[in-house]
Amino acid sequence: MGEVRAAVFDAYGTLYDWGSAAARARDVLGERAPAVAELWRRKQLEYSWLRSLQGRHADFWQVTGDALDFTLESFGLADRALRERLLALYERIEAFPDARPVLARLREAGLKTAVLSNGAPRMLAEAAAHSGLAPLLDETLSVEEVKVYKPHHAVYQLACNRLKLWPGEVLFVSSNGWDAFSARAFGLRVAWCNRAGQPRERIPEPPDAEIRSLSELPALLGR
Ligand code: LAC
Repeated sequence: MGEVRAAVFDAYGTLYDWGSAAARARDVLGERAPAVAELWRRKQLEYSWLRSLQGRHADFWQVTGDALDFTLESFGLADRALRERLLALYERIEAFPDARPVLARLREAGLKTAVLSNGAPRMLAEAAAHSGLAPLLDETLSVEEVKVYKPHHAVYQLACNRLKLWPGEVLFVSSNGWDAFSARAFGLRVAWCNRAGQPRERIPEPPDAEIRSLSELPALLGR
């Protein structure tokens, strides 16, 4: 990892806890909160992949709202006020506790830090401001610049283009196995932050490293 000059992070699931929105609406969702969060996330990703295959891009805010509508209807919870509340909570999504210290540490070690996400620019700006991560990020890169979702190669290429680095100089960090494997298939150096202890994906290419928490990154990079 000696060549690495920038640490580029996925947003949702890696820096930010996508389960936090439903968890904070437990007063209404009750014990269904984790299942609502899971289905919302699953449909959000499916719609991103399906729209990319269809060639019918819409930004991640639209996709997130559409996925929520499907989810609430599935649970018999379709309700305008609940929808608005969950989307407002998603906008102010919580950062994982390991995100802030590791970003600070990597920057002190002389690395550039960036986000590379499906998220629309406004969503990413709001999340970074609300969570306090904004001052620790040098760049925020959104798929809106290429109008296609991960894992299209154009997204991973965007990181190299904007940071003016070769793929081997970028360490991409994602908790999403499919994102980590796909970034490695493109040619980035990749650490899969396997927070949930998921099995390995059966797609090209296995990441360079697998960690359980972002706090393992400095040691992995030898910094
Ligand atoms: C992102 C999605 C994959 O932030 O979570 O790009």
